[in-house]
Amino acid sequence: MDNLWYKNAVIYELSIKAFKDSSSDGKGDIPGLISKLDYLCWLGINCIWMLPIYPSPGLDDGYDISDYYSIDPAYGTMDDFKELIAQAHLRGIRIIGELVLNHTSDRHPWFLDAKKGPESEYHNYYVWSDTYKKYEDARIIFSDTERSNWTWCDECGKYYWHRFFSSQPDLNFENEKVREEMKRVFRFWFELGLDGFRVDAVPYLFEREGTDCENLPETHQYIRELRKIIDEEYPDRILLAEANQWPEDLIKYFGDGDEFHMAFNFPLMPRIFMAFQKENSEPIINIIKQIPDIPSNCQWAVFLRNHDELTLEMCTDEERDDMYNLYAKDKRMQINMGIRRRLNPLLDNDRRKVELAYALLFTLPGTPVIYYGDEIGMGDNIYLGDRNGVRTPMQWNEDRNAGFSDSKPSMLYSPVIIDPEYNYNAVNVEAQVSSPSSLLSFIKRLINKSKSHMVFGNGYIDFIETNNKKILAYIRFDNEEKALCVFNLSSKAEAVKLDLQEYTGLTPVELLGGSAFPVIPENENYIITLSHHSFLIFMLEQRDNS
Ligand code: NOJ
Repeated sequence: MDNLWYKNAVIYELSIKAFKDSSSDGKGDIPGLISKLDYLCWLGINCIWMLPIYPSPGLDDGYDISDYYSIDPAYGTMDDFKELIAQAHLRGIRIIGELVLNHTSDRHPWFLDAKKGPESEYHNYYVWSDTYKKYEDARIIFSDTERSNWTWCDECGKYYWHRFFSSQPDLNFENEKVREEMKRVFRFWFELGLDGFRVDAVPYLFEREGTDCENLPETHQYIRELRKIIDEEYPDRILLAEANQWPEDLIKYFGDGDEFHMAFNFPLMPRIFMAFQKENSEPIINIIKQIPDIPSNCQWAVFLRNHDELTLEMCTDEERDDMYNLYAKDKRMQINMGIRRRLNPLLDNDRRKVELAYALLFTLPGTPVIYYGDEIGMGDNIYLGDRNGVRTPMQWNEDRNAGFSDSKPSMLYSPVIIDPEYNYNAVNVEAQVSSPSSLLSFIKRLINKSKSHMVFGNGYIDFIETNNKKILAYIRFDNEEKALCVFNLSSKAEAVKLDLQEYTGLTPVELLGGSAFPVIPENENYIITLSHHSFLIFMLEQRDNS
């Protein structure tokens, strides 16, 4: 059973750099994170997803790796890493790291050697061409910065292939040595006790002429090989796919339960925001109905925001325009095909909308992923470059540098947020821990209550027909439990009639407060009223009402 731990986990995404600095150099580090494990434990999360910690020139915030077998010295030592794993495990927290398979930094020793030409033993680790007129159907992902997926290398006299920044040459997965090398990396970190990997940029491992170079069968074959290693040698570890794809392609990454354990639900995420903006439940219902069931040993990772832009790649042109219009009027909020804002600013810092979004996150099918800082409603800084505006230091208290670091403020890797609405003086962990009405306390309660019901991680979903499209209502159910979840997406109070005939005689018991509501009557609709942007989650219980 324990090997399925990820189905009922609550994942907390953090960047070591941004979380807590213990050495006063202005950058977070592993000992800093260790010192905050008790906070995460208190919050109730049981899995940390840690962004890249490898040595890197930092041109893509660590996703440009120059050595897969060590840790950036600014973040700590291997001993620190082992201590982190040990301390986290002691507290029942698992840690998953990053496996960046698709590309390295252009300063990785393999690439530096490969550039010398075909005589280099590493030349074939990368994808070279004499012409840029190859694989022309592949889209450009970082469309704001890159003109082509090919970049000319003077030293080699050839073009090299890259799906992201030109400083991130793609590895050549046709080369068996590359495939084996990445398996070594994978085993190396598992031997050190890592509990799994979020696998970066999965769809792009292989290239083939005449295709868009995404989701090729060879990629699935390679993932199956990685999974086999896990099943045979590390059965309690997991692989989580970053595959930003439409449902039909995304779902294939679960294979027959023999590829990824988990995958981010990219198609669902923007539709949660669309439902808010349209005050209409349909975007959520339609997309979930479009997504086929997944194998029973697999799980969605559900998220609202992360360290990247809120990607709109899995949207139609019309949907994307709507999203930009409503969520990113200022061009500075846009990047590539997405919106670089944190959750609270996206939802107008409206506490009710934010709570509603979290209630969806914790009750829609899958395992919830919280982005660091969003649990206290941190703001962003759209004047910082790239996606750095959503990567500012964690706000711990009202001390210097928000309690993140003792360094001089000018040494910080990024300025802290000081704009009035989100100033760290007010928006910080210390201020919210002790306040029962804070966002943080709400999230802690939601985690705590939802974690005590396995149905949210394991159960199926059935949407309930309503007479009011502004209300989203569904039942989560498994063999043991049933939960009724009702959300008012509207900015006005609404009433809804729910057809709950299947559940006649059951008592809805509100999850957060424990109050029992009237028993579901026979042959009558159940009427619920909800104030604006509010929600109710009930466990449906068989009670003796006599
Ligand atoms: C996805 C990561 O989340 C993003 O931050 C990065 O820029 C690209 N992959 C390239 O590695």
